[in-house]
Amino acid sequence: MKNAIGSNRIIIAPSILSADFSRLKEALDLIKQSGGDWVHVDVMDGHFVPNLTIGPPVVEALRRETDLFMDVHLMIEKPDQLIPDFIRAGADMITVHAEAATHLNRTLNCIREAGVKSGVALNPATSLSELDYSYELLDMILLMTVNPGFGGQSYIPEMTGKIRELRGMIRLKNPDILLQIDGGISTANIAEVTSAGANVIVTGSAFFLAPDPAGFIREMKDLSEYR
Ligand code: DX5
Ligand code: ZN
Repeated sequence: MKNAIGSNRIIIAPSILSADFSRLKEALDLIKQSGGDWVHVDVMDGHFVPNLTIGPPVVEALRRETDLFMDVHLMIEKPDQLIPDFIRAGADMITVHAEAATHLNRTLNCIREAGVKSGVALNPATSLSELDYSYELLDMILLMTVNPGFGGQSYIPEMTGKIRELRGMIRLKNPDILLQIDGGISTANIAEVTSAGANVIVTGSAFFLAPDPAGFIREMKDLSEYR
């Protein structure tokens, strides 16, 4: 069963960026068995970010091996050119960066018309005002809490205020929108970011380095303070 979107609880989305790429099937099974809710797939093109990772054929292969909700984070230039391929590959959610989308609302419509959930990501330095005219087209907003490109970086403390401000905007504009955060999240700061209003939590290195991944997910949920 896929996890429902829009539920009232915290969603934990382990990122396979920190998995062993020669054992992705095992990584998917580990996420599922550990109680992870979604699988987060970090797509990087070597241009929008200085790293190169996964493309549609790998997403399609992952789709064959899991029924987890597949949350595809596109860190790529010209996302419109590849979105149809990621839709065909079986993504459940596609998130594009506002900094990379020239006609953001057209891109979001295109994702939704295919029956896929739509997300927009903002880099740490990008203003929330980029979203002003898109709230009705969004299922999720992703605030980057590190500069994108690599796993294992440290959370940028200034992002807590940004999360709080965005939660306020979501309440006003469209309360169904999920607020995802990505980068440097662990048991050390999950209480802070969830009490500020985040309800979808990406975790890469903290999950895959945890000696007891199931215990880690339980602890992340126990420490969450999203209301
Ligand atoms: C960074 C990616 C993240 C990354 C998070 O560009 O978008 O999803 O995998 O990894 P951690 O949790 O290690 O910061
Ligand atoms: Zn990501």
